[in-house]
Amino acid sequence: MIPKGLPVATRNPRHEPSLMNTSADDILVAELERSPPAAAAADDAPDLAIEATGLTKVYGKPGGKRARGAQALKSIDLAVPRGSFFGLLGPNGAGKSTFINILAGLVNKTEGTARVWGHDIDRAPRLARASIGVVPQELNIDAFFTPREAVEFQAGLYGVPKRKRRTDEVLAAVGLGDKADVYSRTLSGGMRRRLLVAKAMVHRPPVLILDEPTAGVDIELRQQLWSHVRALNEAGTTIVLTTHYLEEAEQLCDTIAIINHGEVVACERTETLLQRLDWKGLTMTMAEELDEAPATLRPYNPELRPFRRLALHYKPSEATIAEVLAAVQAAGITLVDLTTEESDLEDVFVALTQPPAG
Ligand SMILES: Nc1ncnc2c1ncn2[C@@H]1O[C@H](COP(=O)(O)OP(=O)(O)OP(=O)(O)O)[C@@H](O)[C@H]1O
Ligand SMILES: [Mg+2]
Repeated sequence: MIPKGLPVATRNPRHEPSLMNTSADDILVAELERSPPAAAAADDAPDLAIEATGLTKVYGKPGGKRARGAQALKSIDLAVPRGSFFGLLGPNGAGKSTFINILAGLVNKTEGTARVWGHDIDRAPRLARASIGVVPQELNIDAFFTPREAVEFQAGLYGVPKRKRRTDEVLAAVGLGDKADVYSRTLSGGMRRRLLVAKAMVHRPPVLILDEPTAGVDIELRQQLWSHVRALNEAGTTIVLTTHYLEEAEQLCDTIAIINHGEVVACERTETLLQRLDWKGLTMTMAEELDEAPATLRPYNPELRPFRRLALHYKPSEATIAEVLAAVQAAGITLVDLTTEESDLEDVFVALTQPPAG
């Protein structure tokens, strides 16, 4: 699915082939071949698509009543490499949308600096804004516009000349080709979100930020949306995504930052983040029921479960699966079946964002 002849900034190794119908994708790819994201192709493209230093946001007037306890961002440092598919995760109220809205020029920061595609948001706000497309969390769609009008209007706002507009292609790429001329109020929730994606793409920004783009979007539409976004990423567009679907982030993102209470608590390659939890589980079905787990298995935290099952947990840094299985065999246990469990992003997320129990 990687369009030939396009500048590929960073290929995301986690990309897997899409299983779905790719007709809308093909349109997008053809579209990208005709005109790749302008700035992504430039020789002088910056190494960092987004760079925030000491970014702080306190909502409400400083010293005013509303300011108390409303520190949404506490001196955040974040760097998003050009070409990456970057996940921004965190619980409700963590500060994700605040961060995105500052970059988009929708919220004023309190302190710190931020650059988008090398442009300082204070010193070159227009260039910074022109470098990103944001799909906002709120479904703010003008009900009396048709999707075609909405996309045209947005292109006008960004100064895209009429001859360079590709409204039909953009709408087809998000699967709204047959809805181009209906009133937007007749679109379903998932279609509205796709219209927001189309609007964010009209000026072919090198950085596309998606704030919860799949909330309320059904599985098929979600997969379609992801395959479009992947095609954009493969063609060089840097993607920043917030989502509450951790599985989604795990599959799509090459790098993940976790924000909690306005602070970055982790920012790593996805694989590194997943390795953070030194934990693996084995659940085996035994030929015979045991009354008690053998004492020799105690180092592996044995747990007897119904239906002749025994669960063991171990730290991969301290033991190998071969050692665990050898101990099982030495204990005289005959295995009928075996399944393994690995920590996933959800475990890491919970460990980093929730206070320890008790
Ligand atoms: N316009 C606003 N005025 C005052 N406080 C706000 C405003 N917008 C957000 N906040 C507060 O800032 C904090 C961060 O909110 P933000 O919307 O950035 O979180 P989020 O990580 O996007 O959460 P979610 O996952 O729910 O979208 C929250 O405490 C929120 O109540
Ligand atoms: Mg939000």
